[in-house]
Amino acid sequence: MFTSSKTIADFKTIITYGHKAASGHNTQPWFFKIDNSYIEIIPNLEKSLPIIDSDHRELYISIGCALENICISATNLGYDFNVQFTNTNSVKIYLKVAVSPKANYLFEQIELRQTNRSKYNHTLIPKSDIELLDSLILENHTNLLLIEKDSKTFNKLSQYICEGNNILFNNEKFKKELLEWIRFNKEELVEHNDGLTYETIGLPELPRDVGEAMLLNAFTPEKQNDITLQNINSSSHMALFTCLGNTTNNWINTGRNLQRFCLKCTQLGISFTYLNQPCEVPQISKDLTDTLLQKNEYPMIILRLGYSKKMPYSVRKSISEHILHD
Ligand SMILES: Cc1cc2nc3c(=O)[nH]c(=O)nc-3n(C[C@H](O)[C@H](O)[C@H](O)COP(=O)(O)O)c2cc1C
Repeated sequence: MFTSSKTIADFKTIITYGHKAASGHNTQPWFFKIDNSYIEIIPNLEKSLPIIDSDHRELYISIGCALENICISATNLGYDFNVQFTNTNSVKIYLKVAVSPKANYLFEQIELRQTNRSKYNHTLIPKSDIELLDSLILENHTNLLLIEKDSKTFNKLSQYICEGNNILFNNEKFKKELLEWIRFNKEELVEHNDGLTYETIGLPELPRDVGEAMLLNAFTPEKQNDITLQNINSSSHMALFTCLGNTTNNWINTGRNLQRFCLKCTQLGISFTYLNQPCEVPQISKDLTDTLLQKNEYPMIILRLGYSKKMPYSVRKSISEHILHD
């Protein structure tokens, strides 16, 4: 099939936006392949997080985030898209020049979106914005609950988050894995171009040994629960993303919802960050389903939402390191 150099150039542009997506610990666990008629996102399982994400659930949610950015930017560049899941867990996005192209209003937010882990300013999100967030079109077999501060469900979720901290911050392997993905200074950032930049988690620039000692001292359930509860208390709402059936495709679709939701928050000036502990500890995940969800509904991602000043941005590796050639 004849493919113009413009199309290939467009496909290359589109994948640069896919690469700006959120990913667990900023592992950027994806490769992109460009074909005549499609872009393929291939999961990079070498970037998995064996302790916190042993079944690759969050890795596939991250793939879904990249997929959503690709769909949004393809639409914005004048393409119709058709998403196909493959039996090797890659995703192909078939692209055709649109007969009646339309801009995607979330496109401009892709560069501006950021995870914001700071304390928020206690301002409540207006009901009209919550309704807008709630009305975002959801993918198949997925769900979203927006939960207001001080409600019974909000307090129950806060309790599960603290129970998650109790288990995770008593787990030496979890702490070790987390420390491995923290970039404590500019040298480490330049070397890796991935991971959790010191500035995005509220740390000053430090030599690794000093930073690790400082964090290990703070990595106790008591200290983490104290910080977490202050952060929750400064927020307006929580968002609980769930899916009906624990399958790879549902995880990817959850990632699409998540990325779209975060872009919409960005447009509305709403900050967000993650409190996924209950989804990451199997027993708590089950308790959460039993008390708050339907029988076959699984908690995937929990965000807290509110308002705060912008934080520094996270980094990405060069896109060339993420392109696969035949
Ligand atoms: C599936 C998934 C899980 C995540 N879990 C957490 C988390 O538990 N805690 C956290 O602070 N950030 C979490 N994040 C946010 C990532 O760390 C963040 O996306 C990454 O560092 C890149 O930064 P950015 O979102 O500002 O571009 C998660 C993101 C995704 C997609």
